Amino acid sequence: MNITWTSDLSVGDHSIDDDHKELFALVDELDSADMSHDYINSILDRLKAYTRGHFSREEEYMVQVGYPGMKGHLLQHKNFIEWLETIRATYARFPQSPFIIGDSVNSYLQRWLRQHILEEDMKYRDFILEQKAKNAD
Ligand SMILES: [Fe+2]
Repeated sequence: MNITWTSDLSVGDHSIDDDHKELFALVDELDSADMSHDYINSILDRLKAYTRGHFSREEEYMVQVGYPGMKGHLLQHKNFIEWLETIRATYARFPQSPFIIGDSVNSYLQRWLRQHILEEDMKYRDFILEQKAKNAD
């Protein structure tokens, strides 16, 4: 997949940027991964830890800066968590299909990078930049 994290995607917070870099790296890794049972399990665990840490960091940050679009943004995080729970439950029921689960995780995450990180996260980044510009006036 040909999207990589670049510094223009920075939201102005190091740990949130690091989280985003981690997700880009994971999607990159998934592209050429050997979809074994253990690998899929580890990916699903990593994603669970990721949502716990990253979403709460981002949500706290949005509260801190008073981002007005927070409600819609949170809904997308909630959808991601629900998707992850569903895919984990599906894999627990059909552990004989790591390839199918791997493919589905891969395409969901690619879409997430494009539609969430590159669009929704950039909206709060732009809001923060605008606030900073206003305060500098
Ligand atoms: Fe987000």
